[in-house]
Amino acid sequence: MRLWTLISLGFSLMSTAAALSPAQWRSQSVYQVLTDRFARTDGSTSATCNTGSQIYCGGTWQGIINKLDYIQDMGFTAIWISPVVANLVGNSADGEAYHGYWAQNINEVNSNFGASSDLVALSAALHAKGMYLMVDVVTNHMGYLGCQTCVNYGVFTPFNSESYYHPPCDIDYSNATSVQVCWEGDNTVSLPDLRTEDSDVLSTWESWIKSLVSTYNIDGLRVDSAQQVDQAFFPPFQSAAGVYIVGEVFNGDPTYVCPYQNYMSGVLNYPAYYWITQAFESTSGSISNLVNGINEMKSDCADTTLLGSFLENHDNPRFPSYTSDLSLAKNAIAFTILADGIPIIYEGQEQHYSGGGVPNNREAIWLSDYSTTAPLYTWIAQVNQIRNQAIFKDSSYVTYKAYPVYSDSSTIVMRKGYAGLQVIGVFTNLGANGASYTLNLPSSDTGFTASQAVTEVMSCTAYTTNSSGNLAVSMASGLARIFYPTAQLTGSGVCDVITRPTSSYHLEKLYDHKSMIYQQVFKHK
Ligand SMILES: *[C@@H]1O[C@H](CO)[C@@H](O)[C@H](O)[C@H]1NC(C)=O
Ligand SMILES: *[C@@H]1O[C@H](CO)[C@@H](O)[C@H](O)[C@H]1NC(C)=O
Repeated sequence: MRLWTLISLGFSLMSTAAALSPAQWRSQSVYQVLTDRFARTDGSTSATCNTGSQIYCGGTWQGIINKLDYIQDMGFTAIWISPVVANLVGNSADGEAYHGYWAQNINEVNSNFGASSDLVALSAALHAKGMYLMVDVVTNHMGYLGCQTCVNYGVFTPFNSESYYHPPCDIDYSNATSVQVCWEGDNTVSLPDLRTEDSDVLSTWESWIKSLVSTYNIDGLRVDSAQQVDQAFFPPFQSAAGVYIVGEVFNGDPTYVCPYQNYMSGVLNYPAYYWITQAFESTSGSISNLVNGINEMKSDCADTTLLGSFLENHDNPRFPSYTSDLSLAKNAIAFTILADGIPIIYEGQEQHYSGGGVPNNREAIWLSDYSTTAPLYTWIAQVNQIRNQAIFKDSSYVTYKAYPVYSDSSTIVMRKGYAGLQVIGVFTNLGANGASYTLNLPSSDTGFTASQAVTEVMSCTAYTTNSSGNLAVSMASGLARIFYPTAQLTGSGVCDVITRPTSSYHLEKLYDHKSMIYQQVFKHK
């Protein structure tokens, strides 16, 4: 074992003792794993998985361990996995609990995904690679196979009596009280809604999360159905957890979503999800709504740099279900990763999966043979890599708030990062048939200086600004262009065709414990 690896291991063991703070999560990039659909224990790619039939397909925690390179080689530093607790057993018109959101016993793990020791091993395997674990948790409800009034509360552990739950009613999303006290689910599978405002329910969840985080060395949490829980629940819950929380507030209105940041460290950026989708899903999408939306989030939210930035997840139709255009997908993905907050890419985006709404958007990844040459696999790897490099060079990149510096009816140009260390993203919705043209960006937009060498890092093309600082961007085929000062790339492995010192060097990945990212560096052979 190399000395560096030994040192790295030593550090990563130390860092697991204290799970990641919200501030430390800013520099991560998350790959969302739907555990049942990512990888089987034996790594097989031939097993069938009928997405529409909504039954367990056989993905496990051990399967994830075996495929961590596939994730890390795309530039991700963390994974978010499905809820881990034991769920209701059995099939229904809504299928089985393969997604993990129908808990029956929160003190045991879901044996379909493996044993408790496998989850410990997954956490350890991630940490040994300098990666982090985010676990999905559901505090709003349990899951029952049967109608709302048929529930036998005795099947639940620990909330085993009716007194822990609100009386059944269907949620009226226009009524805030109803959202918090009524029940999700339907007459096939009902989701008994816990009285999270009661001190006994809260204290049970507090000791549970404390124990879960320490047993499995968990670094962060995604909290399901956060808007269906009373807000006062979250500050003590987060404090008991001691880690970053990103909550699911499934709503497109910034004035509805942003206030949740007063109760937990972060929320999923649903408003931006809607604007990004509508801007890039067709060649006639509205760029101005996206520009206005980005600006509104910055003024409404306490801190956009702690939000979860995403384009797809297991609850919404996949982006390619709206358009098969690869250029549009590339723009939308790059926009998500370079936006404020913690990028979250949902498994299958890298394979251009195109399933529509639930359950079709939950295709098994092994059906792709884990291709690492798929166009979006390499695209995501490159975008993550430039983001990692920007953070490596300047840790304040993650707190610098990105803003639109230029837009027209088909283009939005975003800047993130201080002068000399800025990433300039040029995004367009012209699509793969988009004509070639030159977009002139003055120094006042980009912050680049006169005669500065910059690199377009997606095509590895060298540019130089003119003596007025103007950047003449060569646009073609509707592709996004991402610029970074060439001087900051040296030795990084980004566009190594440009920066590779000599052929007697080879590329090695080193983990930087200050910025908590991998940097690719050239070492003598
Ligand atoms: C809102 O929902 C609560 C809980 O179901 C209900 O008691 C209340 O009457 C509703 N308010 C309105 C205005 O409908
Ligand atoms: C730099 O490029 C811009 C845009 O094409 C142009 O207006 C400007 O005159 C150029 N500056 C010089 C010194 O050539």
